[in-house]
Amino acid sequence: LSGSLPIITDPASEKNLLEAAKIIRGNLEPVAFPTETVYGLGGSSLSDEAVKSIYRAKNRPSDNPLITHVSSVDQLNRKIYQEKLSSPFQNIPKAYHALISTLWPGPLTILLPVPAAEKSVLSKLTTANQPTFAVRIPSNPIARALIALSDTPIAAPSANASTRPSPTMASHVYHDLNGRIPLILDGGPCKVGVESTVVDGLSKPPMLLRPGGFTYEQILELGGQDWKDCKVERRKAVADGEQVKTPGMKYKHYSPSAKVILLVPEPQRTDSDRIAKLKYLISRELQNEDVNTVKKLAILTSLHLGADEIQDLTLGDSKIKPIAVKLGNSGEEIQANLFAALRQVDEIDNVDLIFVEGISEDREGLAIMNRLRKAAGDHCISF
Ligand code: TXA
Ligand code: MG
Repeated sequence: LSGSLPIITDPASEKNLLEAAKIIRGNLEPVAFPTETVYGLGGSSLSDEAVKSIYRAKNRPSDNPLITHVSSVDQLNRKIYQEKLSSPFQNIPKAYHALISTLWPGPLTILLPVPAAEKSVLSKLTTANQPTFAVRIPSNPIARALIALSDTPIAAPSANASTRPSPTMASHVYHDLNGRIPLILDGGPCKVGVESTVVDGLSKPPMLLRPGGFTYEQILELGGQDWKDCKVERRKAVADGEQVKTPGMKYKHYSPSAKVILLVPEPQRTDSDRIAKLKYLISRELQNEDVNTVKKLAILTSLHLGADEIQDLTLGDSKIKPIAVKLGNSGEEIQANLFAALRQVDEIDNVDLIFVEGISEDREGLAIMNRLRKAAGDHCISF
């Protein structure tokens, strides 16, 4: 955990990393960088100016706190607690030890108490004035190299414009933030594809605040005794002004411009049942809509559909062009493809209506359905 860093042999990437680190240390503009989950938009967690520049670039409400990214536990102790310690975990409550020993670096975010006011160097804007701060060690080598090279704890929300789906490719960041930020480090597509799992081990029982890259089942299994009765935060929305544990849930999220309809699956349907039901739901929905405005519609599904089957989904209505995108065969594949598929049909294909087939809400399904329910809002129908 003290962090063996990747060796960068490509001089071009080293030059870009150094450039990005320099911007981070300048505290004026945020930099987009890849993580294993989604692209982040980073600036120093210790600087009010840097954090303001992040909120500004993505147009994010400033009462929604940011996750701080460190490259090692050693860096956390040095830069945030400013202490030399006899044991590296001294500042971290025992409840987290088993979890972070196995899941860091990786898509796990934990809440820690903010150090006492006179000792805290964290910007209050990073934490939106909460008594806790969120922190993780990403596993993506470019992310960790950037954090280590700048020797700065980096506050980074997802690098999308606020309310849009999170970016899993550099081109998504470019689409949303072109002209608003000085640099994007391109690390290719993100492997995990949904954001980190946020857990609160300071409360009793411990809570899973946001499902993400590690599953609830993994947290229960690997967290040790303390996590056996970990609960999942289920509240969808809260009243204005109410203090919430995960303030992110107050806001609109993951929304394409096109209307999204989530098909919530009933168990044990055959493929032909699903195709028949899909046709029925599409024709029903098209009668609801002002039909003239739907020229293109997309179906995101784990079904494998041939060209004829796709055309047949709109029952031969030649005025409407259906596009099908296969999301994947497993929870992991669907998770990795989800945001890119939503953006593809919304931003590139410019469809007017998106049907997404959900999956059962266990393992990766919990995070996937959490994001899809937010994207669809009230438009959820049983499938
Ligand atoms: O995978 C990820 O976590 C990505 C990459 C870039 O690391 N980052 C990310 O950040 O998803 P963001 O800002 O989009 O989501 C941060 C989540 C929000 O739901 C926020 O409310 C919650 O973490 N959060 C941050 N600080 C918190 C705190 N002190 N207490 C409770 N929730 C907190
Ligand atoms: Mg986000």
